[in-house]
Amino acid sequence: DGENYAGKDIEKIDQILKGENIKQEKFHSKSYATTSFLMDDKLSTIDQVKENLSKFLSTDKKDIIKSLLDSNLTGRGGAGFPTGMKWDFCSKANSEKKYVVCNADEGDSGAFSDRYLLEDQPLKVLFGMIICGYVIGSDEGVLYIRGEYPKSIEAINGCINELKSNNLLGENILGSNFNFDLNICIGQGAYICGEETALIASIEGRRAEVDVRPPFPVTEGLYKKPTVVNNVETLAAATGILLNGSEKFSSIGNKKSAGTKLVCLDSFFNNPGVYEIDMGTPMKKVFEEIGGGYKEEIKAFQIGGPLGGVVPLSKIDELNLDFQEFTSAGFMLGHASVVSIPKDFSMAEYIHHLFEFSAEESCGKCFPGRLGSYRGKEMFDQAKKKTAKIPLKLLNELLVTMQKGCLCALCGAIPTPIMNILKYFGDELKDDIVKDN
Ligand SMILES: Cc1cc2nc3c(=O)[nH]c(=O)nc-3n(C[C@H](O)[C@H](O)[C@H](O)COP(=O)(O)O)c2cc1C
Ligand code: SF4
Repeated sequence: DGENYAGKDIEKIDQILKGENIKQEKFHSKSYATTSFLMDDKLSTIDQVKENLSKFLSTDKKDIIKSLLDSNLTGRGGAGFPTGMKWDFCSKANSEKKYVVCNADEGDSGAFSDRYLLEDQPLKVLFGMIICGYVIGSDEGVLYIRGEYPKSIEAINGCINELKSNNLLGENILGSNFNFDLNICIGQGAYICGEETALIASIEGRRAEVDVRPPFPVTEGLYKKPTVVNNVETLAAATGILLNGSEKFSSIGNKKSAGTKLVCLDSFFNNPGVYEIDMGTPMKKVFEEIGGGYKEEIKAFQIGGPLGGVVPLSKIDELNLDFQEFTSAGFMLGHASVVSIPKDFSMAEYIHHLFEFSAEESCGKCFPGRLGSYRGKEMFDQAKKKTAKIPLKLLNELLVTMQKGCLCALCGAIPTPIMNILKYFGDELKDDIVKDN
């Protein structure tokens, strides 16, 4: 029904199915950034879009790319590729037809920042797509929005219609010779559809399987035409950079982790919500001051979705909001969603869930991903039923094989949180695992 259900709401599933209104927990949305690029109201009316579009459609395309390069904006969808470079490569691709794709599949557990932008800042996202189209020489964009976000689809659809009726989308935008139109494609709930090549296959009506890269979408993407695929937050940030100036963005954080980032805190925090935060901010401050601490005893957090690391509570004091810092410490910041793991939650159960997730959600295209996920799940099935213990050497070999041999990061990165748990919570698993085999 488009509402956001979480935590103990599952206990009220009968009432929800009957269409009764149940009391939901309040989620906050607030910017704590030095300069807000994502949550301000600089692009909340059609008049503001008109004013800024006429300004940027008469700006040299190379200057727009330079602003993005100078800002040090990197993709917010997980892979972290520099956005200015992506637009630059695509602008140089030789083709009559090109596409802009907005990746709004947001499948990461605990993530609702793209949803916030689609529903509360839709014009920022659409403006980013239009400007991208202008820069790369495209006349068509597609928003791939997950079907579980009906309110986002409604909000974006309404804005597209409004932009069209104001000549801000369609033929000869604002009297220029630039044409650009937008369509929505509704995702059907498969996590792999967030991976850019599977997403392209899904839009084309093919089975959502991952493709080997290269060629990358910037040279051969949707319908084999040069395509920029960007995450929702990346497109909104590109807009924020153009409106506020690249220096303001690059002056926050550092070269590889610049600007601001949306962070989602789950309902185990006293102040659950989505917050815009300066890169480089200590995680302790994010969790304790902004998040207000925890409602119950927490032992770890899975940060960055199911493929992100499992960070023990004790490590939070050592980390800042920084992509490279997380990676160097063996974790992954990714899209920056936070799922809390309560003290009494079994880590064997958690690993079982991760393997089950990749077994269910993988596209099945590559051998290490398809088989590895199932073999891992079987090991933990047996441990759960107490029919066999898990041989540690075999488990480690399986994890390394998946890391090294998988075609994409779904089954290829699921070993990250599992290895984190083995490293930091090995004691909890000692009854399920045998060291010598
Ligand atoms: C399994 C998997 C799921 C992904 N899901 C998403 C997603 O839901 N949203 C997203 O923007 N990127 C997702 N990505 C990353 C995309 O493949 C791609 O890197 C991203 O959309 C590029 O946009 P950006 O450069 O703006 O980050 C996923 C990647 C993998 C491997
Ligand atoms: S790693 Fe998993 S999701 Fe990715 S291509 Fe292989 S089977 Fe498909």
